[in-house]
Amino acid sequence: MADTSVYRAGTTAPVNIAVVKYWGKRDAKLNLPTNSSISVTLSQADLRTLTTASCSTTFTEDSLTLNGEVSDISGARTQACFRELRARRAALEAANASLPKLSTMPLKIVSENNFPTAAGLASSAAGFAALVQAIANLYELPDSPSDLSLIARQGSGSACRSLFGGYVAWRMGDKEDGSDSKADLVAEASHWPGMRALILVASAAKKGVSSTSGMQQTVATSGLFKERIERIVPDNMAAMEDAIHNRNFEKFAEVSMRDSNSFHACCADTYPPIFYMNDVSRAAIRAVESINAKAGKTIAAYTFDAGPNCVVYYLDENKDAVLGAFVETLGSTSGWKAGIGAQVGVLDETVAEILRDGVTRVIMTGVGEGPIKTDEFLIEANGETAKR
Ligand code: DP6
Repeated sequence: MADTSVYRAGTTAPVNIAVVKYWGKRDAKLNLPTNSSISVTLSQADLRTLTTASCSTTFTEDSLTLNGEVSDISGARTQACFRELRARRAALEAANASLPKLSTMPLKIVSENNFPTAAGLASSAAGFAALVQAIANLYELPDSPSDLSLIARQGSGSACRSLFGGYVAWRMGDKEDGSDSKADLVAEASHWPGMRALILVASAAKKGVSSTSGMQQTVATSGLFKERIERIVPDNMAAMEDAIHNRNFEKFAEVSMRDSNSFHACCADTYPPIFYMNDVSRAAIRAVESINAKAGKTIAAYTFDAGPNCVVYYLDENKDAVLGAFVETLGSTSGWKAGIGAQVGVLDETVAEILRDGVTRVIMTGVGEGPIKTDEFLIEANGETAKR
């Protein structure tokens, strides 16, 4: 009798924010980077993608719904992920004839973020990590997070780092087929329990120049970029791994800020130039500098991805000094706007005003775990999309 069952599996996956940035591809088809990178995985309590993967002979074609909207899956990146995962499942089925032939069935994927998509909050990272992990769960693949990172990388480079929690390195590798360009764990989230992240959302709009095309333009036109990948990033990688292993916050902070500055300098050196940071971003940098100056040491670090939002890393032991400059009522975001600059003498009034006007949302979060298997499904047992 034909198998008409609906098979389902679910996962959540986290956002990660790089402290040594990935910027540049040496092979666009395989999505191989010009440099290694390191990121911090943020807590899924605040930012996560929830994905259900299902398959059934009763489905007519592969499909993906993201935040209630049908997503185009014809792109080479999504297709590469589907193809690689199916090939791994097919190998299991070939070795064990009693397994249902899931690899031949159409896939239906439904995914939801609990934060605005394309807000420069690495939604593609969480999205592709969740897609790959959910299908791997559905197919009951024995692959390790590092193995799965090889597949997620082909969806979106930064996604390969979201297969792990804590502090994660993406080793660029040097093989032509990309088989050594994958993520590995630098340290678990629990290694540095005090680490916190504050996200100042300066714009939740879709970004102007996508990372994919921005980095291609930088590789093609920036002279500064060569210096970055040959000297600056290798030095930053070594210093950052050291700082994480030794829980040396001052070093961690300095390398994060220098690497973010180096990345955005390469964007400015791209011809024509690319600007991701805006006046609000620059005010956030000034605010972090004031906080550090007042403390007499580096207690906060800023970093910016391909958008204007600022991520500030700090330690819980310094939360009063860091959050005090931004948020009047600690732990509550309701009063934060009026509170920006409230601590007398910390923020310059012009800086405080730009932040008050330009920051639309503040997210206080910490370091978290990698993908978590879940029974919270976005697809019903009969294959229908769940109503939410
Ligand atoms: C600035 O991973 O979005 O956030 O591989 O083309 O999908 P694609 O690029 P993507 O680039 C992220 C760039 C970055 C830095 C980083 O996360 O390391």
